[in-house]
Amino acid sequence: MAIASSSSSSSLHPLHHQTLFPKYTRLSPNFLNFQPRLRFSSQKFLSTIRASSAVALEPNLGTEKGKTLEGEPFACPICYKPLLRKGPPGFNLSAIYRSGFKCTKCNKTYSSKENFLDLTINAGLKEYTEVKPARTELFRSPLVSFLYERGWRQNFNRSGFPGPDEEFKMAQEYFKPAEGGLLVDVSCGSGLFSRKFAKSGAYSKVVALDFSENMLRQCYDFIKQDDTILNANLALVRADVSRLPFQSGSVDAVHAGAALHCWPSPSNAIAEICRILRSSGVFVGTTFLRYTAATPWIALPFRQRILGSYAYFTEEEIKDLCTSCGLTNYQSKVQQSFIMFSAEKPSD
Ligand SMILES: C[S@@+](CC[C@H](N)C(=O)[O-])C[C@H]1O[C@@H](n2cnc3c(N)ncnc32)[C@H](O)[C@@H]1O
Repeated sequence: MAIASSSSSSSLHPLHHQTLFPKYTRLSPNFLNFQPRLRFSSQKFLSTIRASSAVALEPNLGTEKGKTLEGEPFACPICYKPLLRKGPPGFNLSAIYRSGFKCTKCNKTYSSKENFLDLTINAGLKEYTEVKPARTELFRSPLVSFLYERGWRQNFNRSGFPGPDEEFKMAQEYFKPAEGGLLVDVSCGSGLFSRKFAKSGAYSKVVALDFSENMLRQCYDFIKQDDTILNANLALVRADVSRLPFQSGSVDAVHAGAALHCWPSPSNAIAEICRILRSSGVFVGTTFLRYTAATPWIALPFRQRILGSYAYFTEEEIKDLCTSCGLTNYQSKVQQSFIMFSAEKPSD
């Protein structure tokens, strides 16, 4: 079916759960050739940062000149100041896992938990836990995360999603002006598209970002099966779409596949995406529309905004949301309930 277009509108740990339910372990020290407790290379920095969810304070981090790596994309999720990084150079899973990050303003440090860098505000908190709406919590489940690329996502085709290969191709068209830059795959799930973006070589850095720890674990399990991706300029980051750990105007492209309907506050999320995009940066998202062209007019008032735990929008609402957050040049392609929309940060 034709898609309607509208312009107006070696592994880090052993492969042990490809066929079984996931049993997650920490990264293998053998592959990474380092101890699970991170130790900064400089003799001056003898204290350690634990590779766990706990926030380990490293008083000296970032105080020595020459120890902060250039071009770091990550910012503190609390104050948005750039994070100082200490660790091996390079933007890949192994180097980031072995690095410690610190916000010099908040004095908070961040480190990798298992195979992803936890940049949520709650990273390392011991007492406080926060429960998000069901549409976010659902994807934190190990079972849903495991099943996601093993049947769950394929079901979307019945609603008009063209499938990952075609969706990737369509997104790449919109992202042409952002080639060579930093792409953030927000709500990446198990990394279906992050892997394609990383493998394409079209971006200098790809960040696969999700709120679900279990999705990120699945993401890593898929990545480690392909050495090209394992060694690509790719980072796995846990973060909330409403509090993205990047400086304002620092990101060239944001992708959010099948995610808008899962976000606790789509308006907060799109405002955040607009904040982090650079001038002329591109946002591409997909979701399920509340109505299709085939929905009889008499049924329109009964099509529910909230169905199950998800929130569904009309195309007009999505366009309104994007433009009200300051994005321009809204475009979309629709097929049944599937919509891919794109919008840009206005140029300065
Ligand atoms: C349906 S999956 C989409 C996965 C993938 N992008 C795709 O196209 O198949 C939606 C994802 O949104 C993530 N998500 C939900 N709430 C989020 C939040 N507050 N911040 C970041 N990600 C969130 C879920 O964890 C889940 O992985």
